[in-house]
Amino acid sequence: MNNTEKLQKIIAYSGLTSRRKAEFLINEGKVKVDGKVASLGDRASKKQNITVNGVPIVEEQKVYYLLNKPDGVITSASDDRGRVTVLDLTQIPERVFPVGRLDYNTKGTLLLTNDGDLTHKLTHPRYEVKRVYKAKLNKVLSFEELEFLNGGSVKVNGKYSIQTVTLDEKRSYVVTLSVGSYHHVKLLFENVDANVNNLTRIEYAGISHVGNLSKGQYRKLTPKEIKKLKLIANGIIK
Ligand code: URA
Repeated sequence: MNNTEKLQKIIAYSGLTSRRKAEFLINEGKVKVDGKVASLGDRASKKQNITVNGVPIVEEQKVYYLLNKPDGVITSASDDRGRVTVLDLTQIPERVFPVGRLDYNTKGTLLLTNDGDLTHKLTHPRYEVKRVYKAKLNKVLSFEELEFLNGGSVKVNGKYSIQTVTLDEKRSYVVTLSVGSYHHVKLLFENVDANVNNLTRIEYAGISHVGNLSKGQYRKLTPKEIKKLKLIANGIIK
C-alpha cells in the first residue's frame, strides 16, 4: 500500500499521545487497524480505520504558536530532573511540542505546534531553515577573528559550519545560520576563544516578531505567518 507510515507516528500526529506512548499502546494490543489488532512495526495509511481502545483516532486541528522563551526553562516536553519546561509556561489546549531545541539558558523565538510534518521539515538539515541569533560575548572580536568566522573553514561539532557573523553593538554579534547542531552558537565562538554570556534567538524560519512578546508570553501565529512557514518548510521560499 502506498503512503503508509509507522502506526505510532500516525497516532502521535493525530495529537492523541506521544510516539513512545503510542508504541506502548500498540504493544498492549490496544490499537486496531481495520478491525485487526496491530503489532509494533506495522505500517498503515491515514485513510484506514485506526482505533485506540476502540475509539477511532481523529486528526487534531493544527495549531501554531510563537513563544518568547525565557532563560531557565527547558525545551523538552518533560524533564526527569523536574525542571520547568516551555510547555509548563503555556496553557494551550492542543498537545503541542516545541519546534527544535533551545538551551536552558537561551531565550527568544520558539515555535510550538502539533504539526509533526511541518516540525520534521523545519528541523531537518536538508531544508536549511534560517535561524538568527544575537550573542553577547565576553570580548570584542578582532577583524581577523570575525573574518575567520565568516570564512569557510570553521568547524562545529565536527562539521564545517557556514554562517554570517556581524557586529551588532559592543560585544554583541548577530549570527545567521541555516543549520543547527547541539550548542551550535556557543561552540562556534569557542573557535575564537570567546564565551557566549547571553544568547537570544531573534528569528526562526522567517518568524521574527518575538520582541513584541514579554518573556514567557506566547501568541498564535497569524494566517500570513503560517502560510510563510509552510512555504519555507516545503522549500518554496527561503
Ligand atoms: N546555539 C546554542 O549554543 N544554543 C542554543 O540554544 C541555540 C543555538
